[in-house]
Amino acid sequence: MYVVWITGASSGIGEALARQYCRQGAKVVLSARRVQELERVKGECVNEGANPENVLVLPLDVTETETMHSKVSTVIQHCEHIDLLINNAGVSQRSKCIDTDLSVYENLFAIDVMGQIALTKAVLPLMIERKSGHIAVTSSVAGKIGVQWRTGYCAAKHAVMGFFDALRAEVAEFGIHVSTITPGFIKTDVAKNALVGDGRQFSGQDSNIESGMDVDKCASIIVSRLNKGKKEIAVGEGLSLFALTIKRFSPTLLFFLMAKGVG
Ligand SMILES: NC(=O)c1ccc[n+]([C@@H]2O[C@H](COP(=O)([O-])OP(=O)(O)OC[C@H]3O[C@@H](n4cnc5c(N)ncnc54)[C@H](OP(=O)(O)O)[C@@H]3O)[C@@H](O)[C@H]2O)c1
Repeated sequence: MYVVWITGASSGIGEALARQYCRQGAKVVLSARRVQELERVKGECVNEGANPENVLVLPLDVTETETMHSKVSTVIQHCEHIDLLINNAGVSQRSKCIDTDLSVYENLFAIDVMGQIALTKAVLPLMIERKSGHIAVTSSVAGKIGVQWRTGYCAAKHAVMGFFDALRAEVAEFGIHVSTITPGFIKTDVAKNALVGDGRQFSGQDSNIESGMDVDKCASIIVSRLNKGKKEIAVGEGLSLFALTIKRFSPTLLFFLMAKGVG
């Protein structure tokens, strides 16, 4: 049975991915910090026809890197192997650099970068031994371009792009695939949960996110491209995605638009 481990599965894109994979008949491991929300997502998967035995709730805080090996052992006990790890957990930012405590940058890097690296490193030896596996990371369009109010988030998402691109080159010889996912604006709680300069949650509305792509549509695009083994998966609508094309063909125009606060 195909086994998919999704972090950040308690809401948003991770939740939608979990439901898609359950519908496809995969065995799914749901990880995040809020156990009650993970149980809710499991309930939704079961309501949609998943066998409860094929949905494992495994609470995990990706900043607790010392716990990764025991979490991997638990997954192996229940599922025997891991076919696809989706490093999707993440937190965004809504504060200007000048107003942002250094601790907020450290926190963003702990969640958005070190957490993904630590879990990947814990899973990787098993995939190398099996000579198969697929590792994905949810980066962001912000992992390719620099956006106001998100200096730490952009830095973190650029960092994971670099890490996973380099990892792809290293593990290709073992038959392991690596995919980077760069969503544009997707309608989730990402803005609400974003950190502000003193480390509190933004809790406000972000009109770009509110009018962003439907999360189920986003998840179905991601799953179909992961199934095809795509290495880079850009998903979104409008300027949030078009910005990648502008950066490629006219970085100067992109920098001008970003300085004007477009997007
Ligand atoms: N929505 C967008 O427009 C957008 C665009 C580009 C990229 N992304 C990326 O997509 C991913 C999913 O975000 P989303 O939009 O679905 O937002 P979301 O609804 O806020 O989901 C974030 C998920 O990350 C989990 N998480 C946060 N901190 C964690 C930690 N320390 N350990 C484990 N899990 C943690 C949260 O669960 P708990 O709170 O239960 O731990 C939640 O399940 C993120 O990496 C985000 O950066 C989103």
